[in-house]
Amino acid sequence: MSVIIKSANDIEKMRIAGRLASEVLDFIAPHVRPGATTEQLDALCHDFMVEEQGCIPAPLDYAPPGYPPYPKSVCTSVNHVVCHGVPGSKRLKNGDIVNIDITVIKDGFHGDTSRMFYVGEPPIQARRLVEATYECMWRGIACVRPGACLGDIGYAIQSHAERNGFSVVREFCGHGIGRKFHEEPQVLHYGRPHTGLKLQAGMTFTVEPMINAGKAGIRQLADGWTIVTKDHSLSAQWEHTVLVTNSGHEVLTVSAGTPEPIVLAG
Ligand code: MF3
Ligand code: CO
Ligand code: CO
Repeated sequence: MSVIIKSANDIEKMRIAGRLASEVLDFIAPHVRPGATTEQLDALCHDFMVEEQGCIPAPLDYAPPGYPPYPKSVCTSVNHVVCHGVPGSKRLKNGDIVNIDITVIKDGFHGDTSRMFYVGEPPIQARRLVEATYECMWRGIACVRPGACLGDIGYAIQSHAERNGFSVVREFCGHGIGRKFHEEPQVLHYGRPHTGLKLQAGMTFTVEPMINAGKAGIRQLADGWTIVTKDHSLSAQWEHTVLVTNSGHEVLTVSAGTPEPIVLAG
């Protein structure tokens, strides 16, 4: 296990990459409307990243072992799609929920963040899932400080999801991030307190829980990327990239349009 501790210079570059990734979400938000296709959203984001930001969209042609090269620049995961939804010609419709996941590379460093968007007015059950998942992410992030363990993060997320009657996807997790898109450690979204790797200042990783309204089981589609719930229940996800600081943590994927954090009591 080798977790890279970032230098002050690395951290400054991670802050920039994180802000830029978040600004892509700010940019695309007003375009997430009934009638838009996910490939239109992908093209808008691609051009913004490349032309306006001078960034590389990290997903494009990304091909980890066992995967075909990813064909688009962002992931768009609609309704029962858990993650890695490949943008296509299907139109968003009133009541859909969609996750847009952005990863940019700037000056050699990655910033990775995703948000949920409502298309028109989704039903109350969909909004409950999205809000509970948002709180799961923030409860996980709230655990991040030197001396805490990765299991503390997983436990905070899992216990909040399950007390709301939802389930945690096990096959995908948060990840260390820096010069590499996915590096050590794996940040599981379930677990037991006081277990797993001990956090140290200078670590950077994502917290990105995928929470299903029904059962936790998933299936991969024939495109080799798209992950859906086995029971076709709705799924939601939020993601931030965080830095462990001497006193706690800093969220790196912030911009003017970042939704308000949930401040937890206690
Ligand atoms: N952004 C995703 C994550 O949070 C990874 C997407 S890989 C891709 O880790 F190739 F599908 F883009
Ligand atoms: Co990620
Ligand atoms: Co991501």
